Amino acid sequence: MVQSSNLFKFFSATLLFAGFAQSRAIEKPSVGAWPASASPSVGFGEEQKVLYLMTNKANNSIVAIPIAHDGTLSGAVYTSTGGSGGNLVNPMTGAPNVPDALSVQDSVRVVGNFLFNVNAGSGTVSMFAINPKNPTELLPLGKQSSNGDFPTSIAASLTNKKVCVANTGVTAGVSCASFDDYFGLGEFDALRPLELGQTNPPTGPLNTVGDLLFNADESLLVLTAKGNGNANHTGFVTTYPVTDGRISVTGKEHKPPGLGAEFGSAVIPGTKNLILSTQADFGSVVLDLDHLDAAPLAKTNVTGQAASCWAQVSTFTGTGFITDALVNRLVETNLTTGAIVSEYVAPNWNPGMTDFLTLGPKIWALSAGNGTTPSSIAVFDISGGPGSAKQIQNYAVPGLDANAMGLAIF
Ligand SMILES: *[C@@H]1O[C@H](CO)[C@@H](O)[C@H](O)[C@H]1NC(C)=O
Ligand SMILES: *[C@@H]1O[C@H](CO)[C@@H](O)[C@H](O)[C@H]1NC(C)=O
Ligand SMILES: *[C@@H]1O[C@H](CO)[C@@H](O)[C@H](O)[C@H]1NC(C)=O
Ligand SMILES: *[C@@H]1O[C@H](CO)[C@@H](O)[C@H](O)[C@H]1NC(C)=O
Ligand SMILES: *[C@@H]1O[C@H](CO)[C@@H](O)[C@H](O)[C@H]1NC(C)=O
Repeated sequence: MVQSSNLFKFFSATLLFAGFAQSRAIEKPSVGAWPASASPSVGFGEEQKVLYLMTNKANNSIVAIPIAHDGTLSGAVYTSTGGSGGNLVNPMTGAPNVPDALSVQDSVRVVGNFLFNVNAGSGTVSMFAINPKNPTELLPLGKQSSNGDFPTSIAASLTNKKVCVANTGVTAGVSCASFDDYFGLGEFDALRPLELGQTNPPTGPLNTVGDLLFNADESLLVLTAKGNGNANHTGFVTTYPVTDGRISVTGKEHKPPGLGAEFGSAVIPGTKNLILSTQADFGSVVLDLDHLDAAPLAKTNVTGQAASCWAQVSTFTGTGFITDALVNRLVETNLTTGAIVSEYVAPNWNPGMTDFLTLGPKIWALSAGNGTTPSSIAVFDISGGPGSAKQIQNYAVPGLDANAMGLAIF
């Protein structure tokens, strides 16, 4: 719930923002053919687009970066989340893990004009309203306990007005809360437990959650976890059906044959129920959420990879992209066959790509840095279609360090 001190601000904001959720069409994957590409020379129309990530430091803050019409970035506006970030423990060094502090996809989520993020160090989720007239302006709408240890990934459904969070510490599992633009963020419900055998803070990346997401029609909540890298304990996918807006309290665990260290995932628009999922130990797979006990529909084995962790699908090129925490390149895949369409090594010194996003003819990839190289976001143009990725900017984000996590867009 919203704190009373915020009540006046909140109510004025509710009035101010009323209608905004309707005025901006929610991007829903279309069913059928790939959506027709916009004219390649056009950026994103008239609306101001903004990229968000979080510092994931002790005073965790959302960083909002305006996107120019050509996709380039400048300026960064900080808003405190009221919670603390966190780091996995690196099993080799025993030190806080950086970059890829949380080793997860979707630690910051935007749906409609709402933004959610995890505060792994304080075990909370924060919610904000985005001012559509000035999307770097975030209004806090509440902060709630995630009901578990070390929350890392968030899924949010506008249809069901539900936000869910995956906790990956000792008390691991998924909990969900209602949200709306009047009351803000409700309390998270009882944990749907997961057996990860973890510590606090968790030791990873292995044996931690990889991602939490809703499928295309928001009828299924999907959790991915990495396993420990042995054939005996591969990654797994746990699904929770959504019925009448309620997320099932029991999940079903699936281990499609051939799965590796299951990590980040993205819905493939225009398909019945397919997702692209990275496999940190070899590349990626395409999974059918309706047949999760069958072998993947396509498999991509990326030679020379180290940790393929993040997955996105471009409706502009009709291809998949995966990025590696340790190898600084974009790998583009054929979503039907799994064949590699292109590998693009960016002309910069970033040590890898620790999260990324695509919209229209652009891609933005975060490299949280390694203490020597600054925390940066590389911007790529893909307007030439499959195989055309080309860097147009490498933006060192002021005030960020190797703890930075998450990417979301409004
Ligand atoms: C926390 O971060 C916010 C936004 O970056 C900043 O305005 C505020 O001064 C910080 N607070 C502390 C106690 O450092
Ligand atoms: C895998 O399982 C087999 C059979 O249960 C066991 O003998 C082997 O030690 C296990 N390997 C690992 C790496 O856990
Ligand atoms: C991927 O390719 C490499 C090199 O050809 C090979 O060693 C490895 O076994 C392959 N992995 C999978 C999962 O197919
Ligand atoms: C992906 O593979 C299919 C089937 O072979 C082919 O028709 C299509 O052109 C390929 N797409 C790209 C972008 O390579
Ligand atoms: C950070 O990355 C740069 C470029 O990839 C590399 O030259 C440097 O040695 C790395 N520093 C550390 C501390 O790993």
